[in-house]
Amino acid sequence: MKLLTAVATCAACIVIASPASAQFQKPDDAIAYRQGAMNVMGEHFGRIGAMVNNKAPFDAKLAAENAAVVAFMSKLPFAGFIEGTEKGHDTKAKPAIWKEADKFKAAATKMQEDVAKLNTVAQGGNMDEIKAAFGEAGKSCKACHDEYRAK
Ligand code: HEC
Repeated sequence: MKLLTAVATCAACIVIASPASAQFQKPDDAIAYRQGAMNVMGEHFGRIGAMVNNKAPFDAKLAAENAAVVAFMSKLPFAGFIEGTEKGHDTKAKPAIWKEADKFKAAATKMQEDVAKLNTVAQGGNMDEIKAAFGEAGKSCKACHDEYRAK
């Protein structure tokens, strides 16, 4: 009985831990999902940006909390870039994403690595390090948007 419960619990874990295997009812759901995930990531990234650009007071605890959210959220949006969603309601995703899937994935991985570094330094609370890591991560966001997101 205990073993069965453990197995059932673990199966649930795998589902939760594998956003890439997410299934969507319809293409628009996948688009809304990736935009929503990008938005949440962008919101928390922006809060760190405000601090490092002196538009908000620096608060090490808040920077660490926001960086952890960004690092987690960075794993999610790409599950929504499935085949058949290059057109859909209000998407700005360029068709090149699906023609250059490897390049797009590499750009996603680069950003995920950069925000993981940002999270690591943010947990240390050093403003200069956070600023530098934020700048690097911001370049990764921009590089992909310049290439794969319509204006
Ligand atoms: C590998 C490519 C890639 C990377 C890296 C990336 N984005 Fe995006 N982002 C996109 C694409 C493509 C869209 C457009 C999605 C759509 O409209 O379907 C988008 C959309 C967005 C949006 C708008 C969401 C909406 O509601 O339409 C925000 C905000 C955003 N990204 C923030 C970020 C931030 C912040 C980072 C870096 C921490 C980042 N993105 C990194 C590709 C990327």
